[in-house]
Amino acid sequence: MNLRIPGPTTVPDEVAQAGAAPMINHRGREFFDMIARTTEGVKKVYQTTNDVMTLTASGTGAMESAVVNLMAPGDEVLVISIGEFGDRLINLVKIYGGKGTELKFEQGLASDLNQIEAAFNANPNIRLVLVTHNETSTGVTQPILPELAKLVHKRDGAVLMVDAISSLSSVPVKVDEWDLDVVLSGSQKGWMTAPGLAFVSCNERAWAKIDANTSQPRFYFDLRRHQKSAESGQTPWTPAVSIWFQLDHSLKMMFEEGMDNVYARHHRLASMCRAGVRSMGLQLLATEGIESDTVTAIRLPDGIDGQKLLNVAQDQFNTVFAGGQGSLRGKIIRFGHLGWVHDEDIAAGLEALRASLAELGYKG
Ligand SMILES: Cc1ncc(COP(=O)(O)O)c(C=O)c1O
Repeated sequence: MNLRIPGPTTVPDEVAQAGAAPMINHRGREFFDMIARTTEGVKKVYQTTNDVMTLTASGTGAMESAVVNLMAPGDEVLVISIGEFGDRLINLVKIYGGKGTELKFEQGLASDLNQIEAAFNANPNIRLVLVTHNETSTGVTQPILPELAKLVHKRDGAVLMVDAISSLSSVPVKVDEWDLDVVLSGSQKGWMTAPGLAFVSCNERAWAKIDANTSQPRFYFDLRRHQKSAESGQTPWTPAVSIWFQLDHSLKMMFEEGMDNVYARHHRLASMCRAGVRSMGLQLLATEGIESDTVTAIRLPDGIDGQKLLNVAQDQFNTVFAGGQGSLRGKIIRFGHLGWVHDEDIAAGLEALRASLAELGYKG
């Protein structure tokens, strides 16, 4: 089966085998060495010297950890949303008692820095800004992070949190150079491992805010606990050891390939996917110039039912695409090209898409 969804992604055989190793004591020497090694590797991919915590959780756990650690009830927060995952941040802020200023942009667009600046300046109490880097539901990568960080940091004590769950490790996210305070990622995306681990980086600005936030209850996702445990080679709670074994191996593979080559491969394959899709007469949801190198969202032609297309591709052409989420359900499909992906996977995916559309009567 050609798994062409934007996560979980294909796990290379040798990574899967690494995960099948016998269990170890998670409070013992081997885990101590492994957490030191993987943390160093993850920091290298993050391009940061900041603390990076590895949580046993999916990406949403990392999002929840960011919100409960950075935001006290009643805090004013600016949430920038360009799709479903931005909306999830809005929900988290509401659920944990924040006063969110929601800045929503049309699906397929990136956010507009001028509008963000106006919203930020209009409310001098905002000390936390949340944004999605790569919006997996629309196939858009936001190009604004360095400028956004500069804007946020003009205000004393203000912190920028970036959801880079579906971009970091596949496209460059320069955490230190861009001065990003808190950055999230998830193991089932470009990291080439099974779902179940999530990463959170925090710089000094973020820790100061977290330590000052004593009124928001938190336990499993208390980042200080995770950071303190990691210093002694442990995690506060039982970790997903098998996925950790996988990560230990997948990081080796990424560094053997070289991160610049990993990024170049993603860009080349994404371009190949986009060109193939356009050559079928189809349109992308993302505006030209901000298309994601990890997932392509494809508008379906009139008369083509999204769910039928997914079924035909899977049943007849051994290819699994993702459907649209929320209001885009049935209107788009999403073609994932992140992680362990190569030319033949994209070529086969394009051929499956072409054949499935033809099966449903599309003349293109
Ligand atoms: C951009 C983005 N944010 C958050 C999430 C949520 O992560 P998870 O599904 O692992 O909880 C995803 C997962 O698809 C994502 O792509």
